[in-house]
Amino acid sequence: MKSSTTQGVKILSTGSAVPHISLNNDQMSEIVQTSDEWISTRTGIKERRLLTGSQQSVADLAIVASKKALDKISMDPSQIDLIILATSSPNDLFGSASQIQHSIGAINAVAFDLTAACSGFVLGLVTASQFIQNGSYCSVLVIGADVLSKWIDWSDRSTCILFGDAAGAAILQSCPSTENSILNFQLNTDGHYSHHLSIPYQDDKKPHSFLNLHQGSFKYISMNGKEVYKFAVSQVPLSILKCLNSLNMSVNDINWLLLHQANERILNAVAEKLSISRDKIIANLSKYGNTSAASIPLALDEAVQEGKIANNDVLVVAGFGAGLTWGTIIVRWKEL
Ligand code: COA
Repeated sequence: MKSSTTQGVKILSTGSAVPHISLNNDQMSEIVQTSDEWISTRTGIKERRLLTGSQQSVADLAIVASKKALDKISMDPSQIDLIILATSSPNDLFGSASQIQHSIGAINAVAFDLTAACSGFVLGLVTASQFIQNGSYCSVLVIGADVLSKWIDWSDRSTCILFGDAAGAAILQSCPSTENSILNFQLNTDGHYSHHLSIPYQDDKKPHSFLNLHQGSFKYISMNGKEVYKFAVSQVPLSILKCLNSLNMSVNDINWLLLHQANERILNAVAEKLSISRDKIIANLSKYGNTSAASIPLALDEAVQEGKIANNDVLVVAGFGAGLTWGTIIVRWKEL
């Protein structure tokens, strides 16, 4: 992206929501053959939150996160022009964003879902920024939310230990270009490796009798952990460097590294490759595991609430995951 923008984009507010039920590693070891020691040392995860009970869906978490973001700045929901829900676990294949629009009373907003797995929130922020920068919309609600617990094979110890459920939201608004917060972005996809991480759709074996019409259903998360690990550690630093270079910035300009919260070892390895000290890493995955599209806005909201991020701090935000898709956004934080 070149900075030929007419409008700046500011992150006005953030919010997040996690389910009440938590499952720690010891409890996990009662479900599959594993241990706190194995999970902690391999991933840094200690516990995760799970959306339990019937009638509960990703929309419920997304609504709570969105309302929190709106309430923080006492914003009337009718001011929202666009809602983007980044999710891979909608409660309706036609999309869940419209349910959120209705529930929060964003009567003037158009709403749609965006599917890009763990990179979904980064893609959502970039998409929202485009609408704002070209003057189409003024206020956009971007939500990252996932309930992958519904798509996990709870007998597969190599995946069920990793994921948790959550939602995070951010409200973006146009501002003078001198105040612009979204400095640059860099996005990538390599579909050649999509099979390394997917929730595949499979046809039922028996076709519909008269039309040879095959119907089927989605299966569980399938992942080649080693390949995904290697991909993240090799590609994410390159994306960050490309993004910094095109702004004539260097890693020394970074105040905070906010990566998709997949695995503590990935966070540390990326920081190490870039020679960024570990105390600049924003991490909360020990409490929540990998919450897919929610992980970045959830960690951002917590960091903001803790008062970690100061005015004009430079945040490097990078997402990566299924697709395989990955990308970086560089943000100059403007105090809320
Ligand atoms: N508890 C105990 N043992 C387990 C286990 C678990 N939860 N899961 C796997 N194992 C076993 C394996 O069966 C294997 O045993 P074996 O050597 O007898 O066959 C052994 O541990 C090593 O498994 P391996 O898959 O090689 O472990 P790893 O060191 O690669 O770690 C991951 C596995 C999943 C933690 C790691 O590959 C990873 O984090 N990858 C990235 C995944 C990711 O972040 N995905 C989402 C991206 S958005």
